[in-house]
Amino acid sequence: MAKPLTLEKILFSQGFGTRRYCSDLVYADLVEVNGVLADDPEIKMDPEGLVLRVEGMDWVYHEKAYIAFNKPANYECSHKTKHHPSVYSLLPRPLIERAVQCVGRLDQDTTGLLLLSDDGQFIHRMTTPKKNIGKVYEITAAEPITQKQIDHLLNGVVLDDDPSPCFAKACVLMDERRLAMTIVEGRYHQVKRMLAAVGNHVAALHRSSIGNYGMPADLKEGQWRWIDPHEMALLAQPIE
Ligand code: URA
Repeated sequence: MAKPLTLEKILFSQGFGTRRYCSDLVYADLVEVNGVLADDPEIKMDPEGLVLRVEGMDWVYHEKAYIAFNKPANYECSHKTKHHPSVYSLLPRPLIERAVQCVGRLDQDTTGLLLLSDDGQFIHRMTTPKKNIGKVYEITAAEPITQKQIDHLLNGVVLDDDPSPCFAKACVLMDERRLAMTIVEGRYHQVKRMLAAVGNHVAALHRSSIGNYGMPADLKEGQWRWIDPHEMALLAQPIE
């Protein structure tokens, strides 16, 4: 059993506003707990597994937020965007309030699996190359992809800003111009620059999986969902 917390603290932890505001939500009859209207913000309860309804929105308590998101094209992974709307504009307000951050960014024109979390240690674990967690990118190339280019990607390419080469950990040719490439780092525009370095060009880019966690088939573009504990274990699987 988790440590009992007051309802006000629980609402605050989930991103429903300041503690004062959360308390007022209860007094305004805008909070249900497991289907029952709450009337006391100071009441203590075990937060694990609580199903809240706040201002009409259903919300399952999560101590930390681990989110899978299907990023559409033409959204930027930043709060201060330059040319396109932010991916954060597609998330509900409580997730923004509790400051979830992208676990590594995707370019505005890249689509696919994006993780978000408010757990700094998790973000670090998922992004550090030391953990050897693979990210699979499905590349549509401008030119047919040759075996020589694949060999070059696997043997390592040097990008202009860093003398240490970056490697594709795996390459699977899907058709003449489509390659699924696994990398463990997340350098700036890494996939596009790697393709350019071997003499090709990325025409479209989609991230399909991270670790052993693939994009859920029913998660439509622009939608998000909680990642459950079983899926968390899949995410943390390093490449052998
Ligand atoms: N590599 C890129 O070049 N772009 C992305 O969005 C992700 C990886």
